[in-house]
Amino acid sequence: ARWAVVFGGPSPEHEISILTGLQAERVLTGAGQQVVPLYWSPTGAWFLVPAGTEAKDYLEGAPSGARPVDVRVGADGGLFVKGRLRSERLEISAALSCLHGGLGEGGGYAGLMALLGIPTTGGSVYASALGMDKLAFGGVLAAAGIPTLPRVALEPDIDPPFDGPYIVKPRFGGSSIGIEIVDDVAAARVVGRTSAHLRAGAVVEPFRGDLVDLNISFRTGAAQLEVSDLEKPLRSPDGAVYSYDEKYLAGGPGQAGLTAAPRELPAQVPAQVSELAERLARRVAAVTGITGVARVDFLYDEASGDLVVNEVNAVPGALALYLWAPTVAASQVLLDALREARDAPVVA
Ligand code: DAL
Ligand code: MG
Repeated sequence: ARWAVVFGGPSPEHEISILTGLQAERVLTGAGQQVVPLYWSPTGAWFLVPAGTEAKDYLEGAPSGARPVDVRVGADGGLFVKGRLRSERLEISAALSCLHGGLGEGGGYAGLMALLGIPTTGGSVYASALGMDKLAFGGVLAAAGIPTLPRVALEPDIDPPFDGPYIVKPRFGGSSIGIEIVDDVAAARVVGRTSAHLRAGAVVEPFRGDLVDLNISFRTGAAQLEVSDLEKPLRSPDGAVYSYDEKYLAGGPGQAGLTAAPRELPAQVPAQVSELAERLARRVAAVTGITGVARVDFLYDEASGDLVVNEVNAVPGALALYLWAPTVAASQVLLDALREARDAPVVA
């Protein structure tokens, strides 16, 4: 088998995707797999990149030695490397999506690959779009009776049906990029108008600085749905939310890593809380139809014991491999997801 690893993409989470992609490439190559690393640039160009590149090689765009690739729907579809004299078709068994945010995680890439007939992880068009749309996902949770915080669209003339302070988030965003904490609805509307991150749409939730984050991963590629240990990312005592810097820059500048952030794994919480998280993660998998390896993020009230689902990530940072590390080898997690994609019918 030959696997493409796809990363980058036009998205605010471009850099994180590079980290995820290069880690996945290392894991698969280390397990003796044939890997085709495909880099999608911020402007939408595709490149076949040399094996074994590092994050710093991407500081100025595609690394040296990258070859432009045509990803297009043709008579015989597929991926082409533009050679000097002729085009050569790249045959792959399936692609591993390491794309975070934007069209990559939100359904556009899934649709492209479905039209090309290339099997890929990352989920269907519908599951991808649902996972990337905080408003729609909140509605699905509410309809399913899965506990979550109230969440509404930021609208010009309708006030949220709950009191501030509020947390305002990009409706289609990830990685804590662009979130704002405000006292009242007037301030929410100001940030909604002025922040570039919120222009494509914003959701409003009650801000609950007393809640802690808990995360769990599920994966559908094994013989049956499996759920990882629960983690508690440890955020700084003065941080209002679990921030972008804490998630990705914990190793210091230039050491950006997806696994460097301090965490409790497994989280030191009462057994009934981790059991509830596992049950809710299974329900999120069922109601969203997300496949492969995903991560469900919770907010937990240590005082009352209440646990609510905050969001789901169809393509989690580092593909949540660190959550599986105690129980399943990273290469197994990736290969199960790739084989699941390869063996599933490709539907547009
Ligand atoms: N969106 C980032 C990558 C995550 O949730 O892990
Ligand atoms: Mg996220």
